[in-house]
Amino acid sequence: MRTKLVVGNWKLNGSLAGNEALLKAVQAGVSAAKDRICAVCVPYPYLAQVGSLLRGTAIAWGSQDVSRHEKGAFTGEVSGAMVAELGARFAIVGHSERRSMFGETDSIVAEKFAAARKAGLTPIFCVGETLAEREAGVTESVLARQMDALLSKQGAAALEGAVVAYEPVWAIGTGKTATSAQAEEAHAFIRARIAAQDAGVAGRLPILYGGSVKGSNAAELFAMPNVDGGLVGGASLAADDFIAIWRAAV
Ligand code: G3H
Repeated sequence: MRTKLVVGNWKLNGSLAGNEALLKAVQAGVSAAKDRICAVCVPYPYLAQVGSLLRGTAIAWGSQDVSRHEKGAFTGEVSGAMVAELGARFAIVGHSERRSMFGETDSIVAEKFAAARKAGLTPIFCVGETLAEREAGVTESVLARQMDALLSKQGAAALEGAVVAYEPVWAIGTGKTATSAQAEEAHAFIRARIAAQDAGVAGRLPILYGGSVKGSNAAELFAMPNVDGGLVGGASLAADDFIAIWRAAV
């Protein structure tokens, strides 16, 4: 039995007052549960506030990115150690928005994964194909390339205790969710790719689905054998919807 996770990715949203109201509402609907984790990944400037609001509650927190560098002359960067010092448990790495809009290559993402691990954070390693890639029938080779950037240099053992998120780019923020069968197929492929190196690590690894997850479609997606929860964008900004998604992760 793998741990289920529902992780909110607030993206570029939030305010001090809004965060407090949202998290109070989410807390009212989320209780500590064995083998089921709820977390929110927030903009860097809010990590301290969110940490002080969530410390001691059933909700964990994390960042949406992390620098591949530890320290030094890297203006604007935020290190894993800084994020960890604020009590964060998770760091998303390789989100498709970082890959497509901020030039993050497979190898940069792999370096960020290693940096997050080194800082004691749990990386949420994102992979996924674009619509053009799906239509061209190359979904599996794209996923293989993205996974292999990590597996070839760091090995499957690096994924022990980490999290992978499959996020088809065409489903992100579009309202067009992958079908549960499409999600299951991709998740099974990712798990098999890791299992080829280490079946134990692959079997224990939570693989989350992301892309227009809502309260209304979460249960069907999470019922798939290889779907271990969700990475939730838009719906994580509405307490009722986020709570409904968390409740669906059983
Ligand atoms: O990280 C979250 C994903 O990008 C999904 O975003 O739920 O708004 O489609 P979305």
